[in-house]
Amino acid sequence: MDTFVTHRDAAVRALVDNGLISTDQPVVGLLDTDAVKRQVEALHNAFDAIPLTNHTVACKAATMVPILRFLADLGMGCEVASPGEFAMAEAAGFAPEKIVVDSPAKTLPEIEHALEVGAAMNIDNYQEMARLDALMEGRETSAVIGVRVNPVVGTGSIAAMSTATTTTKFGIPIIDDATRTELVDAIVARPWITQLHVHSGSQGVPLELAAEGIRRIIALAEDVNAQAGSAQIDRLDIGGGLTVNFDSDEITPSYHDYADVLKREVPELFSGKYMVLTEFGRSLLAKAGSIATKIEYTKQVGDRRFAIGHAGAQVATRTVFMPEHWPLRVSTYTKEGLPSEAPVMTQDLAGPCCFTGDMIGRDYEVPEYQPEDIALVHDTGAYYFSTPFAYNALPRTAVYAYSADAAGEVAFTQIRKQQTIEELVAESGLDVRL
Ligand SMILES: Cc1ncc(COP(=O)(O)O)c(C=O)c1O
Repeated sequence: MDTFVTHRDAAVRALVDNGLISTDQPVVGLLDTDAVKRQVEALHNAFDAIPLTNHTVACKAATMVPILRFLADLGMGCEVASPGEFAMAEAAGFAPEKIVVDSPAKTLPEIEHALEVGAAMNIDNYQEMARLDALMEGRETSAVIGVRVNPVVGTGSIAAMSTATTTTKFGIPIIDDATRTELVDAIVARPWITQLHVHSGSQGVPLELAAEGIRRIIALAEDVNAQAGSAQIDRLDIGGGLTVNFDSDEITPSYHDYADVLKREVPELFSGKYMVLTEFGRSLLAKAGSIATKIEYTKQVGDRRFAIGHAGAQVATRTVFMPEHWPLRVSTYTKEGLPSEAPVMTQDLAGPCCFTGDMIGRDYEVPEYQPEDIALVHDTGAYYFSTPFAYNALPRTAVYAYSADAAGEVAFTQIRKQQTIEELVAESGLDVRL
C-alpha cells in the first residue's frame, strides 16, 4: 500500500490511542507534514529549469502560523490577500522580499506597510495605481510593484472560482486593443512597475487555459519592454490554481504535468529572462489533510441511511454550500481507529449544524457506520479545517500535524487547540450589555 495511505491509517489509529478523538473532542483536523514536504519538493523540481523563482504558498489555503512557518522553513514564500494574512506571514518568519501582497481592497496602511518592509505587491486597479503614484513620489523602497492583469481567457468549470472573465472583480482586464494600450502606456509611464501578475482561477481551470493567461501577460511584458526600451518588466507572477483531484489519493495533475504544458505553450517562461513567482495553495496542501469525526448516531430516513457526525459546515464550508463543485471522499474506521471491515452500504454523512444542507456528502459506498466509529474526510488540507465557519457556535476544531516513521510510529504536533465553550461564549461578547 502507498506509504501516504499507510501513514494516514496509522494516524487515525494513533488519534484513538492517544485519546485525541473523543466525546469531548469529536472532530479534528490532520495534516501529514511529510506529504506537504513532498509537494513542496515536487513544485521546486517541476520548475527547476527557471533560474530565479519565488514559490509562494497562498496563505488563504491555510491561515495557521505553524503551517506557514513549516513552509517558510522549506524555502517557500507567501502570497497574502488581507492585512491579517500579511501579519501571519510576517509572524511565520517569511522574509519580506518573499511575501507578495494581492489583497483586492488594499488600504493605504497596508500599501504603506508593504513599501516599508519591502514586500512585493500587485496593484489591482487604476485607482490603486494612483495611490501608488502619490506614495512613490521621491521614495526609495526595495518593494517590488506589479500589476494584476486579467487576461480574459474565459471560465473554468467553477464560475465562482474563475477570475479571467469580463465579469470578474480581479485585476486590470485586457478586453480589447484600447484597454491593452491603456495598460501598456500606464506601466511604461511608471518605471517602478516591474512585475506582471496573472491568476486565472482556482480549481477547475484547465492547464491550457491557465497557460493561455500566462502567454498573454508575457506578450504584454514584451510590449512594455519594447516601448520602454529596457527590461522594465523582469518578473512574472503566474499565480496558483492548479486543480486538485478529489476523486482518489492520486495527485493528478501534478506540478510536472503543469510545467510540461507551460514548457510547450509558453517556453519564454523558462528562458531566464524573467524571475518567476508562483502562488499555489490547494495543490500544495489539500491531499495532505483529513478531517476525522466521531459518528454520533446513525438512522434510517425512508430509504436513506444517515450517519451523523461532527464535521459539517464549520470545517467543510465550500462542500456544504456547493456540493456539486466540492465533493469529498470519506472512509470508515472503527472506534479503535482501524479501517472498518463492515459490509459496504450506501450512506449519507451529515454534519452537526442545524440546517438541512449540512451534509459532507450523499450516496457514499463505504463500510456501514456505527455510532462511535470514525469517519475520515479526505483531501481537506487546504481551505477546510484551516478556514472555519462560525455557524451554530460550534468551536474551532483542534488540528494536529503528524509524521510517521518507517515503522509507522506516529508523532503528533498540535497546531491548534479545540476552542473551549468558555472561550466561544467570551468571544461572542460576554462582557457587553445593551
Ligand atoms: C491571487 C491568488 N493567488 C493564488 C491563489 C491560490 O489558488 P489555489 O489554492 O487554487 O492554488 C488564489 C486563490 O484564490 C488567488 O486568488
